Amino acid sequence: MNSPVYQDGVLAHGTDGERERLRLLEELNDPATVAVLEQLGVRADWHCVEAGAGHGSIARWLAARCPEGRVTATDLDTALLRESPVPANMTVARHDVTRDDFPADSQDLVHARALLGHLPDPGLTLGRMAGWLAPGGWLVVEDPTYLPAEASPYPEFAGLLEACQRLLARIHGTDHGWARRIPAAMARAGLTDIGMTIRVAVCGTDPTEDAFWRRCFAQATPGLVATGLMTAEQIASAVAHLDDPAFADTAWMMVSCWGRRPS
Ligand SMILES: C[S@@+](CC[C@H](N)C(=O)[O-])C[C@H]1O[C@@H](n2cnc3c(N)ncnc32)[C@H](O)[C@@H]1O
Repeated sequence: MNSPVYQDGVLAHGTDGERERLRLLEELNDPATVAVLEQLGVRADWHCVEAGAGHGSIARWLAARCPEGRVTATDLDTALLRESPVPANMTVARHDVTRDDFPADSQDLVHARALLGHLPDPGLTLGRMAGWLAPGGWLVVEDPTYLPAEASPYPEFAGLLEACQRLLARIHGTDHGWARRIPAAMARAGLTDIGMTIRVAVCGTDPTEDAFWRRCFAQATPGLVATGLMTAEQIASAVAHLDDPAFADTAWMMVSCWGRRPS
């Protein structure tokens, strides 16, 4: 599947609620992403690429941390990145990560979150991104994956999560199994010092997490119904778990991986 289809699917920036969904995604995941970046020791003079930057919170964090360097924030659709003033050391660029390149050896840090799993051949794209790194530079890739649905004590809720994964696989070619394969792909790309950590998203105990998933389910509902993956009644019944004070179950796990180009 050709990646620009992303712009036409249920996660397109123009879709009702997508701006708010991306904002919630940032609010929930930025602390873990920033912890990984801090641990790598981001320096003031680094040149960084934030690929598939979405609303741009991490690109802006990097711009603040690298005042003597430069951050290039890229996306297929850059409108959300330009909504607030762009810092002087940040460039916003329309860029398709599956085909547009940066010069070899040019970046100290390349980061992509919730991007590669939507692409037709994430391992190939990861290999190209690794080629942008200067010697000693870091590649950080984060993508979500799920625990097995059959392990959940809430089959309706787990079934809804599973149906959403099937829908994204059909529309965008999204592969939620990819996240587990990132470290191996980094090793194949010649990176070293590879590491991996995971943030588990728990529904039913955190209003921000629940707000994010309600948005995901609302955006997926027309597609789920149209494709026959679920009926509107089944979806409503699964989402109603979020109103039950006793409910707690995992949604997805955001896998964060890092690897370094040898000096
Ligand atoms: C799920 S959002 C994640 C946004 C951001 N990385 C974050 O975690 O907050 C995926 C982003 O990748 C962008 N995208 C999808 N396919 C792309 C491609 N081939 N090249 C560049 N960006 C792409 C989308 O437009 C969207 O902004």
